Amino acid sequence: MIALSFPLTTWRALLYLAAIVGFVAALKGLSSPRGARRGNLIGASAAVVAVGITFSDPTVYHSPLNVALAGVAMAVGALVAVPAARLVKMTAIPQMVAAFNGVGGGAAALISVVEWLHWHSAGVHPASYQIAEVLLGVLIGSVSFSGSAIAFAKLQEIMATRPITYPAQQAINATAGAATLALTLTAVATGTVGYVYAILVLALALGVALVLPIGGADVPVLISLLNSFTGLAVAASGFTLDNNLLIVAGTLVGASGIILTRLMSKAMGRSLTNILFSAFGSVVTATAGGEGPGGRSVRSSTPDDVAVLLAYASRVVVVPGYGLAVAQAQHVVKELADQLAARGVTVAYAIHPVAGRMPGHMNVLLAEADVSYDDLEEMDQANAEMSTTDVALVVGANDTVNPAAVDSPGSPIYGMPIIHADRAAHVVFLKRSMRPGFAGIDNELLFNDRTVMLFGDAKDTLQKLVSAVAEL
Ligand code: TAP
Repeated sequence: MIALSFPLTTWRALLYLAAIVGFVAALKGLSSPRGARRGNLIGASAAVVAVGITFSDPTVYHSPLNVALAGVAMAVGALVAVPAARLVKMTAIPQMVAAFNGVGGGAAALISVVEWLHWHSAGVHPASYQIAEVLLGVLIGSVSFSGSAIAFAKLQEIMATRPITYPAQQAINATAGAATLALTLTAVATGTVGYVYAILVLALALGVALVLPIGGADVPVLISLLNSFTGLAVAASGFTLDNNLLIVAGTLVGASGIILTRLMSKAMGRSLTNILFSAFGSVVTATAGGEGPGGRSVRSSTPDDVAVLLAYASRVVVVPGYGLAVAQAQHVVKELADQLAARGVTVAYAIHPVAGRMPGHMNVLLAEADVSYDDLEEMDQANAEMSTTDVALVVGANDTVNPAAVDSPGSPIYGMPIIHADRAAHVVFLKRSMRPGFAGIDNELLFNDRTVMLFGDAKDTLQKLVSAVAEL
């Protein structure tokens, strides 16, 4: 009863607070595969509440035309986004995230530009800190927009996925960055409206320049960083519009994006500086074809022989990688695992944190095939049990099981933690060729005495294994 006597503004503030709590709860849910679906729903509901309160603010006049335009924009957005999210292939999720992130950054930049022009046309002389907020929104949002657009084009293979480099690239980028910063500081000091356009153009160019030298497979890390930028741009818009919800939501996105970027860099055994500036992937040192370095050849096996090895093992660990996603072999790998389990074999899945091309890639794929979370082992747990494993079945993984990360100090992946498939009694590789993985380097494990190769598309090979095990 007492609560009902709150003024409307208090109710609105409480609803905003509920939405903020919803965003925090959503992040909590998204931090584990079990809670991800629930987290997503909570986050979406909180966003609906937030939009609802914003539109119903009685203290702000919204012209009917503006409300109608916003309605049309939301309807068009939903019409594009809902089918896109439903139909997107699992391997194309990174570029979809890039596209969604880009429009978020672009929207934050546009809000800031409009607010700046609004002050100008109303003859308002904003304080320096207000100008700084607006320009930060323009700067960070534009970098995020154009950077995400190039990231999308690379991942969608609309443009070359390899790192694009040119002489004095870093010096040029540093000069452009310094010029943008100098212009921003001058604009804050003088409040000159025209500068905002120059900052907008320079920031858009900077976003492109930042992404060009980054190789296609490093782009997911960059997207996470750009996601963090978008969050900061949104937080800056929140200060400009005096909206606490935007400030909190933007800060949450900014912080979680940077944490994810750090986690990914760590799991790849590389620094963020290396990922951003080393043009990783422009040099391929591996030997493609049927032979390895020094003309060594690998041992090929047949589905029938491997079926016997698997069916009479007591513990088999499936090590999935990017090839599992390419082959879309998640359902058939589960079928094989169920078949083996029915024969009394213990089957587990060893999940490397950066297997595939996006965070949680393997978890999502395997969840799609209804693999129980209890069967998934994180890297440390899987490694602890690898020496008691009879067969490591490597399905489309390569870099994440490459011992060069541990014993070749000169290797580009040296220092990356790996799944120690090499410690299992037998290793079976399912891949199509001797081509390298993302890092473009040879994998000694392919030549190990205890390793056999089953060449072919992972889905086809697994189907053959299922048939062969069934016949035993
Ligand atoms: P990779 O090292 O990229 O190896 C994938 C392997 O799958 C390749 O050797 C390829 O060999 C094979 N393959 C591709 N299509 C296949 C198919 N249809 N059937 C069977 N095999 C197929 O994969 P990984 O072990 O998952 O390692 C991931 C790499 O990506 C790491 O270097 C990681 O640092 C990097 N990375 C990951 C992320 C995230 S967040 N996950 C982000 C950026 C970079 P063939 O061509 O011979 O078949």
